Amino acid sequence: MRVISLAGSPRLPSRSAALLTLGQKWLQQRGVEVIAYTLHDFDAEDLLYANFNSPQIKAFTAQLAQADGLLIATPVYKASFSGALKTLLDLLPERALDHKVVLPLATGGSIGHMLAVDYALKPVLAALKAQEVLHGVFADDSQVLQNGDDIQLQEGVAARLEEALESLYLALGRRRPVTAKTTSPLLTGQSA
Ligand SMILES: Cc1cc2nc3c(=O)[nH]c(=O)nc-3n(C[C@H](O)[C@H](O)[C@H](O)COP(=O)(O)O)c2cc1C
Repeated sequence: MRVISLAGSPRLPSRSAALLTLGQKWLQQRGVEVIAYTLHDFDAEDLLYANFNSPQIKAFTAQLAQADGLLIATPVYKASFSGALKTLLDLLPERALDHKVVLPLATGGSIGHMLAVDYALKPVLAALKAQEVLHGVFADDSQVLQNGDDIQLQEGVAARLEEALESLYLALGRRRPVTAKTTSPLLTGQSA
């Protein structure tokens, strides 16, 4: 099983990326291959000026096509996900998330915007044809403490993250495999 992780904050250090790091480790401990990306892996001009020919975007798209799932993290910015992340998602092909399971993670300054992932990010993931978008995990700033590589989560958030990662792991296991195109029995009239 292979998962792409994508840190969608333009800032460093990043609380949402800290959640992502814990998720990456959890998956790796269960034998999942995680290929980690952050917005900083892309040329800012390519993102801002929608350069579809960017080599980094093409490489990312190719990696995504080979992956089973996407673990995506974003800060809440102005009651939505980060605009910088949107500039990247805008450059992906229409079916970039076809056959993939997605787990969104988000951090925000207040719980007032805890639904931003549901009303802002999930429609974009659906537009990219994600097969399954799982219940995301939201934490407010007070619940994620970061000191260099040391990341401490408030107990409730840690439990929610663990539960969400379990769901992702299970969903990856039952995901429809991408098979070579064959003629459908529905078209030929054959019984299965
Ligand atoms: C430009 C900007 C806009 C923000 N807008 C919101 C907001 O609308 N709602 C909210 O709850 N937090 C908002 N925040 C706070 C961040 O979402 C919060 O600090 C988050 O944990 C930052 O994540 P990061 O460290 O991964 O960048 C904003 C922060 C910035 C810098």
